[in-house]
Amino acid sequence: MKILVTGGLGFIGSHTVVELQNKGFDVIAIDNLSNSSIGVLDGIERITGKKPLFENVDLRDKSAVQIFFSKYPDISGVIHFAASKAVGESVENPLLYYENNINSLVYLLQELQKKPEVSFIFSSSCTVYGQAESMPITENAPIQVAMSPYGNTKQIGEEIITDIAKVTNINSILLRYFNPIGAHPSAEIGELPIGVPQNLVPFITQTAIGLREKLSVFGSDYPTSDGTAIRDYIHVVDLAKAHVIALQRLLNKQNITKVEIFNLGTGTGSSVLEVITAFEKVSQKKLNYQIVGRREGDVIEAYANTDKANNVLGWKAELSLEDALSSAWKWEQKIRI
Ligand code: UD1
Repeated sequence: MKILVTGGLGFIGSHTVVELQNKGFDVIAIDNLSNSSIGVLDGIERITGKKPLFENVDLRDKSAVQIFFSKYPDISGVIHFAASKAVGESVENPLLYYENNINSLVYLLQELQKKPEVSFIFSSSCTVYGQAESMPITENAPIQVAMSPYGNTKQIGEEIITDIAKVTNINSILLRYFNPIGAHPSAEIGELPIGVPQNLVPFITQTAIGLREKLSVFGSDYPTSDGTAIRDYIHVVDLAKAHVIALQRLLNKQNITKVEIFNLGTGTGSSVLEVITAFEKVSQKKLNYQIVGRREGDVIEAYANTDKANNVLGWKAELSLEDALSSAWKWEQKIRI
């Protein structure tokens, strides 16, 4: 079975290529290398013994997308990661986000709708729930007005896929990720943030290695047990495995509706201070941090109800917060040598 992974050299994409190859799928990865590096292919090869087929395709280029699909007519499943994901940048440059995340999705789907049948997995986010009224968050929680253009592109993406499902033979699963962190335990692939990381865990590891002076903890006056915000941090390897299971569900025609939605998280919320404590434990290093004001746009807490993924997909996160942090730390140490 030939599976296309867009954004296949990115953080979650590369880990998913590994899990697909481990399960015997024939993978074609495409990427425009705007936020990834070609060397990721070697990392994937060192882990799986096989270099996936790779094409440098920019999905914003409609004719390049058409040419790609005429070259590879036998793709039966697509996992679509290629997108921009920096919340702050999306506020500064909304059109960049609409072009990167929406145009590319439309061009991709225009080609896929020509096929007699195709399975499609979409990278969505818990950001669609905003500050949910109750925890843990189920898939039925109402979608809130997006707090950023990035968040809006995820909501619009879900709507586009739902609309086209009614008139095409595209079967889709929308996966709403909570907070993906960590790296492959081999430290052959991991997250490669460009510039100053906006996300918590890369900022922690870069501070511990000495690239950043100190971590700012955004807010200690939230209505939570220690005053810092709560998130559901999920190991990227667990997340990658969920994509393979979701894809198999579609390929085996086990889906009940043409669009299905699943939360992917651990089901456990951790505060920023708990993440710091866990990191200090696994790294045996004291982290330099200071409490500062809240970051605009942050929600107080978000953690998943994972019953649907557990019961319907038969998938459950297996790795702990400590596993994720220790793999992220191992990766940081490896890339700074
Ligand atoms: C955000 C988005 C999410 C997106 C993800 C990927 C929202 C609500 N969430 O997740 O949809 O997929 O980015 O980029 O838009 N923190 C610090 N100091 C730091 C960095 C973060 O204290 O230097 C705190 C944050 O305030 C937050 C937690 O750590 O409470 C996690 O932050 P982060 O890793 O940026 O992820 P989210 O904001 O949850």
